[in-house]
Amino acid sequence: MKNYPGSYLDPFAGSGTVLVHAYYLGFEAKGYDLLPILPLMVKSKIEILEKSIDVNGIEEKLKGAKGGECSYPWLEEWWPKEAKSLACGLMEVIRENVRVRGCRVESDNPTLVLLALNLARRLSWADDSVYKWFRSKVKRKKMEEIIAKGKLKQYYLSLLERKVKTLKYLLQTLPRPKGSEVVVSGCKDVLEVRDEGDVILTSPPYLQAHEYVRSFKYELLMLGVSLETVRVLSKLEIPYREVRCNYEGRLYLEYMSKVVPRLRLIYRNYFCSLFKAFENLKAETVALFTGPASLNGVNIPIHEIMKEYFEEKRFKEVERKEDLIKRRRLFKGRNNKNRNGIEKEVLLILKTSQ
Ligand SMILES: C[S@@+](CC[C@H](N)C(=O)[O-])C[C@H]1O[C@@H](n2cnc3c(N)ncnc32)[C@H](O)[C@@H]1O
Repeated sequence: MKNYPGSYLDPFAGSGTVLVHAYYLGFEAKGYDLLPILPLMVKSKIEILEKSIDVNGIEEKLKGAKGGECSYPWLEEWWPKEAKSLACGLMEVIRENVRVRGCRVESDNPTLVLLALNLARRLSWADDSVYKWFRSKVKRKKMEEIIAKGKLKQYYLSLLERKVKTLKYLLQTLPRPKGSEVVVSGCKDVLEVRDEGDVILTSPPYLQAHEYVRSFKYELLMLGVSLETVRVLSKLEIPYREVRCNYEGRLYLEYMSKVVPRLRLIYRNYFCSLFKAFENLKAETVALFTGPASLNGVNIPIHEIMKEYFEEKRFKEVERKEDLIKRRRLFKGRNNKNRNGIEKEVLLILKTSQ
């Protein structure tokens, strides 16, 4: 980002990495995402960078979470009954500290809210290491052991202690940001975004790889977003929504023919969504962080297909950086025909020659 100074735009802002880093460097930034939780994440990261949070106050509030009864059908399903009262307590803290208007979620205490959400997840049957609501056998065993020993509250307090320690460490060590204006909006379908910046730096969703809305479904419900809203958001998610286009780039068509017929719709929806989204966004520099995703065993070079698209719009590649994925797993799994998952990610930087 230092090499490409200017105002930044991230239409798939996720948890706001680009926005927060722009803030850190003093560049203006705007970001959007379908997920309603984005503004909370950005606000929380900025308040941590600015050291404007009261860690002891947060700790006290979360220590005191008692809750008692609350009746949400999905709570029964995802939390052991012994953890229900703690989960209800956390939900109370969350609800007291957020304002929900339709899809929009706002908070004056975003770090407190995000910590409460994280702790609630840790008390549930959901796997700790997979950011998806996935009921794992390992987690069930772990929770059952803790409950059998009567150590649930102790477990909760130790998780809280660790979080507080991390927060204190961050407050002590993070350098001061330069600060800038950051505009951030969740609940925003990328096809509705019309905006510009000097640089678009973004990481679009992967092809058939992640269901972000579903991954955050229970957090959204905990926040007080309605099930109906969650459903509406799910239907807008790329690449699951229906989008058509007449684009006929060579690589795009070549790989379309390699994909098994039943997955061609996903392929088309994916690329047409990206092409359409970029029609409405303007910048002199476009930096895309993607990689060759596998669709039923066929490696699709998303970055090359996007490069071809941008070249038609008179952009030229100026730089490329490869991140070889060695130390972390990205979509590696038994059910993936490409057993090694994604092996590299590519940051492709293009500049307009107009
Ligand atoms: C790879 S992630 C971005 C991660 C981000 N760079 C970060 O640092 O957290 C892709 C994002 O695209 C979002 N997304 C998927 N479909 C979308 C749509 N139709 N409109 C807007 N955002 C969408 C997802 O919610 C997800 O956060």
